[in-house]
Amino acid sequence: MSNSELTEADCIRWLDTTAPEALQELYQQAYAIKQAHVGTKVFYRGIIEFSNVCEKDCFYCGIRRSNKSVKRYVVQDDDVVAAATWAWEQNYGSIVLQSGERKDDAFASQIEKLLQRISEATNGELGVTLSLGEQSPDVLERWRNVGGKRYLLRIETTNPKLYSTLHPDDHHFEDRLQCLRDLRDLDYQVGTGVMIGLPGQTSEDLANDIQFFKDHDIDMIGMGPYIPHGETPMGNSLPDFDSARQLQRGLTMLALTRIALRDVNIAATTALQALDPQGRERGLEAGANIIMPNLTDTKYREGYQLYDGKPCLDENAGMCRFCLEGRIASVGESVGYGEHGDSPHYLKRVAQQT
Ligand code: 5AD
Ligand code: FES
Repeated sequence: MSNSELTEADCIRWLDTTAPEALQELYQQAYAIKQAHVGTKVFYRGIIEFSNVCEKDCFYCGIRRSNKSVKRYVVQDDDVVAAATWAWEQNYGSIVLQSGERKDDAFASQIEKLLQRISEATNGELGVTLSLGEQSPDVLERWRNVGGKRYLLRIETTNPKLYSTLHPDDHHFEDRLQCLRDLRDLDYQVGTGVMIGLPGQTSEDLANDIQFFKDHDIDMIGMGPYIPHGETPMGNSLPDFDSARQLQRGLTMLALTRIALRDVNIAATTALQALDPQGRERGLEAGANIIMPNLTDTKYREGYQLYDGKPCLDENAGMCRFCLEGRIASVGESVGYGEHGDSPHYLKRVAQQT
């Protein structure tokens, strides 16, 4: 199946398919395209979830502002720098700094200093991806100037109507989209993604999401199945939640995205593992090439439950490292240690510009 043959109707048909044998063939096609365009080295993005303080109130998210039963935490800067240094010493190509969304000046300055400190501590060798929500172009530029090279901001769904059912009235789809455009204008490597299997989401919506990734020339994709969180307004909106089907749909989206976009980085996200202990390995087999080992100190992990059943609550970063290596070897792949693992799509774009 070539790119041009994958029509919207094909995508919809595949997303509606439940027969495992048929889907297995699709995953194999996606795997062959992955081998040809990005290879079979898995790149690590060690993720540091350094704070769960969040101004936003998304109806699906466990750390939303209104969830009063979450104990809020902020990891000390020294500890963030130490975790980043550990990742560098382990030869991880890059890390992700993620937190709830804050838009105050103190936060912008804190991140600016953190980026400078991480760069100094790691000889400027560690790639840093930021995942800190919607921010103004000024702030994004400040962060880019001190080492932020990549940014992840999931659009969550590209259907504005569906978006509005998932968020309060003061969260605007158009603002999020504008932030993605600003990131591109500032020459970040841009990552986005969606939640798969949301209440009210159709296969057509998901097919449109893939088209959106193409139209916006996205470099990195992080997407995963939606998993209800009991303490959110949407916690009970999927009474017949079928985790096997949810996983299947997630894998199908990964495979279709790999077939359609070819040379982008695609993460096998933790939400896959929450639905199946082998979920991330299955993601690699369906076309993903990035894994995000959790570097957050275990004492904070309880506080960063975006959805119910998030795995690895008790495993520290060292345990995750060896566990993951075994998992990756189990599907015949290897880890790209010491390499940034930039999105080949991005590198091609930059080469064309010069
Ligand atoms: N299920 C799956 N993913 C979720 N996220 C937040 N809440 C959930 C949930 N209940 C995802 C969002 C966000 C990312 C950090 O976590 O897509 O962008
Ligand atoms: Fe965390 Fe295995 S990936 S313990």
